[in-house]
Amino acid sequence: MAFRARTSLPPRIALNAGLRRGFSRRCSSSSALFRPEALSVFELEAPTLGISSDSAHVDFINSRLVADGILKIRLGFSDEKSQYLEQIIRQLHTNHGHGLPITHSASRGWFWDVRPTTPFQQSTISASSSAMPTSTQARSETMEEFPWHTDCSYELSPPRYFALHVLHHDRCNGGTTSILRVKELLQSLSPGTKYALSRPDFRIEVPPEFTKNGNERYITSSLLQEPSLTPMNPQLRFRQDIITPLTTDATKALQELKAGFEKIEVQKAILHLTPELLPKGSIILIDNRRWLHARKYASSTCHT
Ligand SMILES: [Fe+2]
Repeated sequence: MAFRARTSLPPRIALNAGLRRGFSRRCSSSSALFRPEALSVFELEAPTLGISSDSAHVDFINSRLVADGILKIRLGFSDEKSQYLEQIIRQLHTNHGHGLPITHSASRGWFWDVRPTTPFQQSTISASSSAMPTSTQARSETMEEFPWHTDCSYELSPPRYFALHVLHHDRCNGGTTSILRVKELLQSLSPGTKYALSRPDFRIEVPPEFTKNGNERYITSSLLQEPSLTPMNPQLRFRQDIITPLTTDATKALQELKAGFEKIEVQKAILHLTPELLPKGSIILIDNRRWLHARKYASSTCHT
């Protein structure tokens, strides 16, 4: 799962995923719940690395992803190389048609680290990466603030899932990732606005660090999946800084969409994945089309 796929997507669950490993902040199992009230998130326990090849365990993970589009897993063992997550991804691919992850960028593989470093200090840990570091670092690889977005929104077919494996959480409580279900964001929008968002009237720039085809500087697409295709679980692509509406209706719809983040009912639906909720050893899998995410600043140093 964590961000992104260059490979063609299986038509069914259209899924590729990108994998993300969080540093410094970022069924054999019992399950528990944590907030928010209306958006309970299953918490699954993985007591051993070996359970990653247990079919019942993997089936359960898949079922929760299909049903909820989100799942938290708590590892009961040390896994600095994310072997559990890699194995789960392979199993989801083999047994549930998820597809394998995309490479993160022209220079990254399945996994990348999120931590306050300079580009050349980063290490790439990937089962498939053959890439070398470049001087171009994606914002998602840093701990800078990142407003509401979905990953790879500039892809013709954005990856379906991504994963965050917290190797070390931020000791100063920084770097909180927040998530918001698309369904809650769209609830207050009019049918006309949703229709405009589902029209291919938006130009979406491909960030330079993700340009893999020299001629592919932007795509033209809708932001919202045709609502009649996903009435219960709407799917969205969004990253404000790279989207340009091409019509008057698209401009108005985008404005209304952005205003939606400030509504009280939407604010109440946001789940903040603080280090307390997502401590070291946690993995969270998220449907990149049904959930938006954002990140607040994570300090590289703190004084205690
Ligand atoms: Fe992201």
